[in-house]
Amino acid sequence: MEEAFPDIDHPWQHQYDNGGLSDDTANNMVENCFGTIALPLALALNIKVNGELIAVPMAGEEPSVVAAVSGIGKLIATNGGFIAEAPPSDMVAQVQILDCEDFEEAARQLKAREPEVLSTANEFCAGMVKRGGGAKALEVRLLQPQHPDEVAMLVAHIIVSVGDAMGANMCNSVAEGAAPLIAEIAKGRAGMRILSNLSDHRVAKARFSIPLEKLAYKGHEGEAVAKGMVDAAAFAWQDPYRAATHNKGIMNGIDAALVASGQDYRAVEAGAHAYAARDGQYRALTRYKVEDGCLKGEIAMPMAVGTVGGALHTHPTFRYVHSLLGWPNAGKLAAIMVCVGLAQNFAAMRAMTTEGIQKGHMRLHARTVCAAAGVPKELEDACVQAMVLKGKYTKEVATNWMAKVGALIKPGRAIKAAPSAGVITSCL
Ligand code: MEV
Repeated sequence: MEEAFPDIDHPWQHQYDNGGLSDDTANNMVENCFGTIALPLALALNIKVNGELIAVPMAGEEPSVVAAVSGIGKLIATNGGFIAEAPPSDMVAQVQILDCEDFEEAARQLKAREPEVLSTANEFCAGMVKRGGGAKALEVRLLQPQHPDEVAMLVAHIIVSVGDAMGANMCNSVAEGAAPLIAEIAKGRAGMRILSNLSDHRVAKARFSIPLEKLAYKGHEGEAVAKGMVDAAAFAWQDPYRAATHNKGIMNGIDAALVASGQDYRAVEAGAHAYAARDGQYRALTRYKVEDGCLKGEIAMPMAVGTVGGALHTHPTFRYVHSLLGWPNAGKLAAIMVCVGLAQNFAAMRAMTTEGIQKGHMRLHARTVCAAAGVPKELEDACVQAMVLKGKYTKEVATNWMAKVGALIKPGRAIKAAPSAGVITSCL
C-alpha cells in the first residue's frame, strides 16, 4: 500500500492521500460531517468489452472480489471478450394522481394532452432539452385496488431522456414541475412526484461465449464445469432463496465498481432487485446455457449510472477513476458495469460448482486474520499456509502460530519459502 497508484502519472494524484477527500470537501458534501472513511481501491484487469480491454477500478472491503473479476475477465477476454450494450438513458419520472371522479376518463384526457404535458415537463429540464434530451413520452397507468386497504390511483410516467447523467434530480424536477398540470387535466390530486429506480428503460446487457474445452478447471473437465454452472443458474432462476444470494454475488462486483466511480449504488441495487422480480417471482439476473459446444452466459439489468453531475464534480478520486476508465459516457459505463457483474457471477458459480468457494475465500480472509493477530508482513505467507493446512482461520490459530513458529524466526527476516507442512502442523 506504500504506492497506492504506482504506475499512474496524473495531475490529480497528490489529492488521493486519505481517500482523496479533504475535510472541507467532505463537510460540503453532507451534514454533520465528522470525518471520512477509506476503502481499498483496486483494479480489476482484463475486462474486454466490445473488443476494448479495460481495467476497472473497484472499491470495497470484501476479499476475492477483484481477483475473481480479473480471473474470469482474462478467461473471457481470451475467448472473444464480452459483447455488451446499453440503450439511451431514459428514466421514469412518476406522478401519482388520486381522487379522480372517473379514472378511466382521466387517463384518456392525459394521453390526449400528452404534447402539452411534455412541453410543460421540458420547462423543468431546459438544459437537457438544449442538449437533445428531455421529456419525450407520457405513459399513464391505472392502478385499481386489489384489497380493501388499497386505493385507486393513476400513475403518470414521464419518460425523460437524461443523457450522460444518472438523472434523479432531473426526473424529480420534472415530476414536481409537471404535476400541477397533470392533476388539473386528470381532475384529481397530485400525490407523490419522484423518479422511479426501476429504470427498466436503461436495461444494460452483456454476454459471452466460451468453447467447452476452454473451461477445464482444477481437475474438472470443461463440459462438467459448464454443466454445473448451467444447473446452478437454473437453481437461481427457479428459486428466489437462491436468486437472492446469486444476485448478491453479482452486486459484489457491480457495487464495488459503482462505489469507485461515484455512482448512486443504492439506486442501481433497488433497480436490480425490482427488475429481478419483474414477472412476479424474484429471479436471477444472469442466465447460462450450453449451445453449439460453448457455454453462453448473459446478464440483463437496469443500470442508471452517470458520467456527469452529482459527486463526480466534488470528489477528486471519482474524477480520477473516470479518467482511468477513459472518460466513458453513461452508456459505456453501464456496459462496463454489467460485464463486471457477469464476470463476478461466473467466478462465484464456477467456484461453487467445482472446489467450493471457501478455499479461495478463506485464504484471502486468512490475511485479514493475520493482521488482526499482529502477524508481521514477512511472516504472513507462512501463517496463511499454516491456517490452510489446519483448515481453521481464526485469530486464535494465528496467535498460537505466532507464539510457536513466529517466535523462532528473527523479526524482519523475509521468509522466502514457508516452513514445511510438518513443522507448521506440529506447532499448531
Ligand atoms: C458471497 O459474497 C457471494 C456468493 O454467495 C454469491 C453466490 O452465491 O452466487 C458467493
